[in-house]
Amino acid sequence: MDLSIPEPFCYDDSFDVGVASINDQHKRLFDLINNVDGNRGDGAAVKELLDYVVFHFKHEEDAFDRYNFADKESHKQLHDDFVAKASAVAEINDEVMAFVKSWLVHHIKKSDMTYGESLRGME
Ligand code: FEO
Repeated sequence: MDLSIPEPFCYDDSFDVGVASINDQHKRLFDLINNVDGNRGDGAAVKELLDYVVFHFKHEEDAFDRYNFADKESHKQLHDDFVAKASAVAEINDEVMAFVKSWLVHHIKKSDMTYGESLRGME
């Protein structure tokens, strides 16, 4: 599994989790992360990303409930941990951007990929 950070930082088929709505949301996350990276110091860009992260995590977690995904609690904990870390960031710098990009790549490929089978049939 290739866990390297794509350069440029763009969604590709290796991030396909098998659920169209979630793939679309992941694409949006890549875009919003790039927006933060390209507009450092813009609090509105950070807020837009964080709001969308929370929206996306809730979308997944609601689906976990509907489809009785077995690992929903541990997956939700990963979401909560990321929101806590991201919300505590005081300044956008190279280290923060590397963390956020790496987190998304690892989370989609190592965690989100595991629910594809359980959520089969979801649009
Ligand atoms: Fe797509 Fe579990 O976040």
